[in-house]
Amino acid sequence: MIASKLPHVGTTIFARMSQLATETGALNLSQGFPDFDGPAALREAVGRHIDAGHNQYAPMPGLLALRQQVATKIAGLYGRQVDVEREITVTPGATEAIFCAVQALIRAGDEAIVLDPCYDSYAPAVELAGGRCVHVPLALPDFAIDWQRLADALTPRTRLILLNSPHNPSGALFSRADLDRLAELIRGRDIHLISDEVYEHLVFDGVAHASVLAHEELYSRAFVVSSFGKTYHVTGWKTGYVVAPPALSAELRKIHQYVTFCGVTPLQYALADFMQAHPEHVAELPGFYQAKRDLFCDLLRGSRFRFTPAAGTYFQLLDYSAIRDDLDDVQMAEWLTREHGVASIPVSVFYRDPPKGARLVRFCFAKREETLRQAAERLCAV
Ligand SMILES: Cc1ncc(COP(=O)(O)O)c(C=O)c1O
Repeated sequence: MIASKLPHVGTTIFARMSQLATETGALNLSQGFPDFDGPAALREAVGRHIDAGHNQYAPMPGLLALRQQVATKIAGLYGRQVDVEREITVTPGATEAIFCAVQALIRAGDEAIVLDPCYDSYAPAVELAGGRCVHVPLALPDFAIDWQRLADALTPRTRLILLNSPHNPSGALFSRADLDRLAELIRGRDIHLISDEVYEHLVFDGVAHASVLAHEELYSRAFVVSSFGKTYHVTGWKTGYVVAPPALSAELRKIHQYVTFCGVTPLQYALADFMQAHPEHVAELPGFYQAKRDLFCDLLRGSRFRFTPAAGTYFQLLDYSAIRDDLDDVQMAEWLTREHGVASIPVSVFYRDPPKGARLVRFCFAKREETLRQAAERLCAV
């Protein structure tokens, strides 16, 4: 036995709910991954590059051709010219990028602020770096930043704020005005940002994603993280990237080179080819996922769940208080899986201190039309 460095961490709810879905044969709308494949041209390119002998270590910061494609995309979408040599690093998943950025920033005794509910890798990364994670809840019902609480949470030890927009699990977005207000709040303080933008292309209803990459002042102190897995429907490839000013990237790379050294080579070649040949993929993504959101939400209008359609991501929250007010959300997610054959994720697991009486479960709508129709039919019968 060794004393655990993460004594509060057990098997994640994502693994548990997926397991329960498998055991019970339920439709799995719990974990965030598509039940359809990435583009055929992208998948074929991997085989081609493996056959072409692209099977040895990639360059530590990522394949240059892939970093060039990322730079082109960023220039087109956010108007920023990034230095491919010094500002973009390809990582095995956004998760590794976040982990390395946290290790680069946080020392023993430093504080990092996360906005609850938040993605589950943030707090353990801070704790492993010896830091203290300060949890500031987003304001319900819209999951907006509670500016007063955020301002109150700042101390001389605050080194980092972790942001996530489009936001998992709520589907809420930060606006450009939010970024301006944040810039004002941290101006003159020694605070950095990690901006988790893995759902940057999943923003609906004609709204533009407010990226930290498009915000001069915030970018100067930020690591901006994205995920090819989310963008190209290949979450199992665990390939992402992080963009940061040269001095920050240099520190991140010192850590990345000892955590993994580099991402998987043929995947990077395939992604570079595909991005170059199919720039329309990214442009079409908001419409692609908006159609899924609209289908799922339209079908659910006849149900007893209450909801506001997600503004972004591929997650839809449903409020079940009109159905089973006697169950907490973990019990509700289990009950829905066992009794009604649809697996979801309870929102309380994204909090350190879940709000009392919240009755929300999260459904992933990155699913084929027939899966969404079946799931909605079952949910309408609840
Ligand atoms: C908010 C958020 N950040 C990061 C990740 C991880 O991305 P990756 O699979 O590229 O590590 C996810 C995946 O679900 C996520 O939802």
